[in-house]
Amino acid sequence: MEEKMNIPRHVAVILDGNGRWAKAHHVPRKLGHKAGCENLEQVVEDAARLGIEYFTIYGFSTENWKRSEEEVSALMQLFRAYIPRLKKIAMDNNVRVLSIGDRAAFEKDLAEGLDMLEETTGKNTGMVFILALNYGSRDEITRGVRKLAKQVQEGTLAPEDITEESISLSLDTAGIPDPDLMIRTSGEQRLSNYLMWQLAYAELYFTDVYWPDFHREHLVEAIQAYNQRNRRFGGR
Ligand code: IPE
Ligand code: IPE
Ligand code: MG
Repeated sequence: MEEKMNIPRHVAVILDGNGRWAKAHHVPRKLGHKAGCENLEQVVEDAARLGIEYFTIYGFSTENWKRSEEEVSALMQLFRAYIPRLKKIAMDNNVRVLSIGDRAAFEKDLAEGLDMLEETTGKNTGMVFILALNYGSRDEITRGVRKLAKQVQEGTLAPEDITEESISLSLDTAGIPDPDLMIRTSGEQRLSNYLMWQLAYAELYFTDVYWPDFHREHLVEAIQAYNQRNRRFGGR
């Protein structure tokens, strides 16, 4: 049946459950994150091959800074190590990488690594892989509103000209179509400040599988469930 699947154009994932996966395997949390990162490499390739056009992953939230210093620094180390690997995967699979979220909070080398990824992969024409790092919807909307307010203050934008479209364009996801399907792993059923504006009409799919165990077959299962849904956008 896989051939007949209608592939959603934009799939957004909250990768969750690395910590519980580590606990279940009696290993330190940071090994759960490592397993999660390694799994992501495979899933990005699978997503690209399935024909998904935009694939967004929540890797680190604006709230995740509240975790222990040890865990935050282990995650930063992992991101650092992950950048060159992701570059290779992206180049091998014609994937363009973008990042959303407030990069300013990251150390310089990490922020520059993300710039380099966007630049190096900028001409690839296949799937767009969007990494949400130090991302939070409320923060994104706050920054966007601030940009618009500045334009109003400078006299280049009239308050009546603030529309849903101009708000969308003020967000980090400007130009990216809204997600059609949102997947969260590990059994939690919340948005945790993820793409709250953009997910207004997305289908939501929750699975109990922990992220490091989420493989191609689970992605296909989610897409099949999405195919069973009767999508509505408020009309009849
Ligand atoms: C998701 O796994 C990865 C990040 C938030 C960075 P968690 O670390 O949230 O795993 P659990 O929820 O504790 O199992
Ligand atoms: C959401 O997961 C953030 C990421 C996946 C990066 P969390 O595990 O941090 O969310 P909560 O705390 O359970 O809501
Ligand atoms: Mg979690």
